[in-house]
Amino acid sequence: MGIEGAAPKPPAPRGPYSAALLRQLTEPPGPAVGLPRPPSAQILGDDLQLALYVCYELHYRGFDEVDPDWEWNPALLAFRAELEQAFLSALRAATTPAPLAEQLAALLTEPADGSGPSHFLRKSGERWQAREYLAQRSLYHLKEADPQAWAIPRLHGPAQAAFAAIEFDEYGDGHGDRAHAKLFADMMRDFGLDPGYGRYLDLASAEALAVVNLMSLFGLHRGLRGALVGQFAGVEITSSPGSARLADALESLGAGAAGTRFYREHVEADAVHEQLVRRGVIAELLRQEPGLEPDIAFGLAASTLLEERLAAHMVSNWSRGQSSLRGPLPAEVAGR
Ligand SMILES: [Fe+2]
Ligand SMILES: [Fe+2]
Repeated sequence: MGIEGAAPKPPAPRGPYSAALLRQLTEPPGPAVGLPRPPSAQILGDDLQLALYVCYELHYRGFDEVDPDWEWNPALLAFRAELEQAFLSALRAATTPAPLAEQLAALLTEPADGSGPSHFLRKSGERWQAREYLAQRSLYHLKEADPQAWAIPRLHGPAQAAFAAIEFDEYGDGHGDRAHAKLFADMMRDFGLDPGYGRYLDLASAEALAVVNLMSLFGLHRGLRGALVGQFAGVEITSSPGSARLADALESLGAGAAGTRFYREHVEADAVHEQLVRRGVIAELLRQEPGLEPDIAFGLAASTLLEERLAAHMVSNWSRGQSSLRGPLPAEVAGR
C-alpha cells in the first residue's frame, strides 16, 4: 500500500487514556461516556500524545473501522480540547520567544558545530539509523503540507497568495507524482520501508508525535493562525542546508535515485520557499495584522523546541547504539 492507500488500522494504546479513546472509537459515535478527563501533567508523554494524535487523525484519513462521524462528535471534541489546553500551556511554559525578527535572523545562520540527526547521519550514521529517521519522520511527511493547508482560508490577500504558492509546490505543482509526500514514500521504499500511511505510528516515539500534533493544533484553530505561520516559516527557512546534508548522508548509506530525490528537491525548493515565506507570508501578514507578531514568534519557538526535542531523542539513542523507536523495525523488504 502506498500513500494513496485506505485508512490505516488504529494504533495500539500506550496507556489508560489512549486505551479509553481507542475503545470508545470502536463504538458508534455517541455521548462517549467512556472518555475520562485527561490529566495535564503528562501531556508530552506517550499516552496523551497518542490520544491527541488519534483525535487529530480523524480530520485527515481517519482509521479503518472507525466511524467518520466521530470527527465532529461533541464529546470527543471536548476530550480533545482538554488535551490541547494542556499541550498549549506546557508549550507556553517551556518557551520564552525572542522577538520574531531576532528568531528569524538566528535561523539564517547555522551553528558550525551542529548536532542534529542530519549532522549525525552524515558524519557517522548507519543504514539502520537512516531507516529509523525516515520511519519517525513518515508521520508528517506522508501527509506533508496537509496540516498547514487548513490555514489557507484563514489568511487573506498577498499573504494567502504567497502561502498557497508554497503549498502548491509541496503538493507537486499540479503533478501528483511530484508531491513531496509521494517523494517521501518513494524514498521509504528505496530504504526497504513500507510507505503505507500510518504504518509506523506504533513505533514512533512521543517526541515524533508531538511535532506533528503541534502542526495539527495550529492548523485547526483559526486563533492560532499566527503560530501556524511561525511553525511553517521555521521549517521552510531551515530546511535547505539540512536537506543537503541528509541527501549526502543517505547517498553514502546506499540510497538509489529515489532515496535522495526528496531531500535534493527540498534543497532547491526551500531556498525559494524561504524567501516567499519571509517576504510574502510573514511581512504581508504583519502588515495586515501587526498584532499577530507574538503569535508568530510563539509558533516558531514552540516548533523549534519540539523539533530539537525529537532530534535530541534520536541522536542520544543512536550515540549509545540504541534504537530511537518503540520497537524493532521490520527487516528491509526489497522495493527498488
Ligand atoms: Fe516539502
Ligand atoms: Fe517547502
